[in-house]
Amino acid sequence: MTDAAPQKTTFKPRIFSGIQPSGGLTLGNYLGALKRFAEKQNEGIETIYCLVDLHAITVWQDPDRLRQQTYEAAAAFIASGVDPRRSILFNQSQVSAHAELGWIFNCVARLGWMNRMTQFKDKAGKHTEQVSLGLYAYPSLMAADILAYHATMVPVGEDQKQHVELTRDIAQKFNHDYGVDFFPVTEPLIEGAATRVMSLRDGTRKMSKSDPSDASRINLTDDADTIATKFRKAKTDPEPLPDSVEGLQDRPDARNLVNIYAALADLTPAEVIAQYGGQGFGAFKPALADLAVAKLEPISAEMKRLMADTAELDRILGDGADRADAIAQPILDRAYDIVGMIRSRARAR
Ligand code: TYM
Repeated sequence: MTDAAPQKTTFKPRIFSGIQPSGGLTLGNYLGALKRFAEKQNEGIETIYCLVDLHAITVWQDPDRLRQQTYEAAAAFIASGVDPRRSILFNQSQVSAHAELGWIFNCVARLGWMNRMTQFKDKAGKHTEQVSLGLYAYPSLMAADILAYHATMVPVGEDQKQHVELTRDIAQKFNHDYGVDFFPVTEPLIEGAATRVMSLRDGTRKMSKSDPSDASRINLTDDADTIATKFRKAKTDPEPLPDSVEGLQDRPDARNLVNIYAALADLTPAEVIAQYGGQGFGAFKPALADLAVAKLEPISAEMKRLMADTAELDRILGDGADRADAIAQPILDRAYDIVGMIRSRARAR
């Protein structure tokens, strides 16, 4: 949106991403985010992962349930392979730089930009007068999450692309307005076969933790029988699988199942089609169910084990928050200096 000068500063490569602990996590969260978060740890780049509890309260959350869901989401990260020693794992509200930088960005972002956010329109629906101000301002808090760490790359599913683009606009406008080259222009990383896992009941809608139909999604806490039943009942068309991926073009339900299989098996959709092309769903669905159970059952078992010791999860999140704060606070301090805030407390001490 802004015509900023190209960046002169070289920013250290750093990955940041977040998940809302606003309900049980789904196969969409796993394939679009968690599995990739774990893989990113092997690329020699610093990785910072956050349970964005301040984002979660943009819609009503029962306090006890929110705490429980945050522990559960922390367990899901670890069970999916995010190692809290190799990555920083923490909950957002323990690092105050997010909310503080979010305020500065509320004063940088334009109302017109917010009005274009499709996720706000989807979530608010017809009730734009009734939803919280936080839900509307949410993308500028997300920009603060990312930019408080000068993160250069953000692995996300397709649905977050517009928010990361807004983050780029905010960084560029801040840099332009204050005549600095302080915030990086972050790249979204939207990679793999499962950047948009769709509902099992309707291949044109995103699989979502807030869908009223439990049959529409696989929850990371579902047991083997439930997973198998949900895949068996997944909506499909009567045709067998095509002989090429192009044949999936106008078949959203079939395409979704092939993409899920591909992502779970670390194959490309073309490789899955090479194996199952011409076969009916009577053969493909049980194979998919078996694969999903084999991959997800160890995760849900590990989540259960971790959830039994919330003191250990507290320790991990507290340690992660200390390490996150050590990066974010100096960046926030410099941002305050740039915008002209007096910060004499530190000097007076
Ligand atoms: P959230 O909590 O809705 O989703 C977390 C991550 O899971 C991905 N995802 C999916 N990927 C593929 N298919 C699906 N059906 C699917 N559903 C969810 C999302 O794309 C996301 O990567 N605003 C963010 C959280 C956030 C954040 C951030 C992310 C806050 N601050 C900073 C990155 C960086 C959100 O609501 O994601």
